[in-house]
Amino acid sequence: MPSYEIRDKVFFITGGAQGLGKEIAKGVLARGSKVFFVDILKDKGEETLQELAHIFGPKNVAFVQDHYHYIIIIIIIITSILLLIIIIIIIIIIIIIIIIIIIIIIIIIIIIIIIIIIIIIIIIIIIIIIIINIMIIFAVIQGSQVASLHMRKDKGGKGGRIIAMSSQAGLDYYYQMPVYNACKHGIRVYSKASSRNPANEAMGLEFASFHPDGSDAGIFPRMYEAPGLIGADALFETYRGELVPVESVVEAFIDLVTLEKMNGADLYVGKNKNTFIEFQKLELGNSFPQK
Ligand SMILES: NC(=O)c1ccc[n+]([C@@H]2O[C@H](COP(=O)([O-])OP(=O)(O)OC[C@H]3O[C@@H](n4cnc5c(N)ncnc54)[C@H](O)[C@@H]3O)[C@@H](O)[C@H]2O)c1
Repeated sequence: MPSYEIRDKVFFITGGAQGLGKEIAKGVLARGSKVFFVDILKDKGEETLQELAHIFGPKNVAFVQDHYHYIIIIIIIITSILLLIIIIIIIIIIIIIIIIIIIIIIIIIIIIIIIIIIIIIIIIIIIIIIIINIMIIFAVIQGSQVASLHMRKDKGGKGGRIIAMSSQAGLDYYYQMPVYNACKHGIRVYSKASSRNPANEAMGLEFASFHPDGSDAGIFPRMYEAPGLIGADALFETYRGELVPVESVVEAFIDLVTLEKMNGADLYVGKNKNTFIEFQKLELGNSFPQK
């Protein structure tokens, strides 16, 4: 039996224009809550606003575009420009040195330059991936802090609950996506550490994190449908038949947010079962196991 009443409560959802955010919005609206969602995608957000307002009433749902992506774009542009300048300088130096020393081996120089450019392009791509992932954890942390400031009872707020979205796969250890794993672990750890603040009770704040397995809504099916996305077929093949129906994700979210005491909870959502998890430090002694 749910003990925390969500009827008439306001849910602030980041990234609610599509995917799991939108489905969770529908789930809580259907239970009498109100939703204020933000997204960096203006058109998609307005489309979703209209859809939700039509079903649940315009007074119950609001949308504002989040301009946070400009920071990401600015950082990516600055990083790319800096890297580009470095590339140009490196290329000029290499060309000058090589022209002075040996003109005859121009063909070799061209090959070297091409290799250098390829390496630098790869480095730029890796840096962009790292920046995007780090900006996501930064967005969650910053969002939680802003939300806390608005909700703190000791500063005039009404108190409330903050649920950070991570992912079951994110809490695993995949060598193919170490940055993603690092960021998703970071999100859980940030939420967990925040839940341990002894002042939470006075502030009326509770923190939890939510970890669905791959779902049949959101980024997963879109990745599969994206033309020419390298590795999408293999990834989807691994998950074939294992995807969690989005309704189960929404149900699990409602179960979490309606817990009598939610603070510190980390909920895994699987296809067949949901389970609360706890990471513990395992001491291995002073000699590292060699097998
Ligand atoms: N879909 C899944 O199978 C799955 C499984 C586990 C965890 N998750 C997690 O759930 C979350 C949502 O995933 P999804 O599949 O629904 O993705 P999605 O791409 O369908 O939706 C995410 C939305 O967030 C918006 N967004 C991105 N950055 C933003 C920002 N800084 N401010 C506001 N909005 C922003 C995007 O524009 C997009 O509309 C992610 O954190 C993802 O890692 C998803």
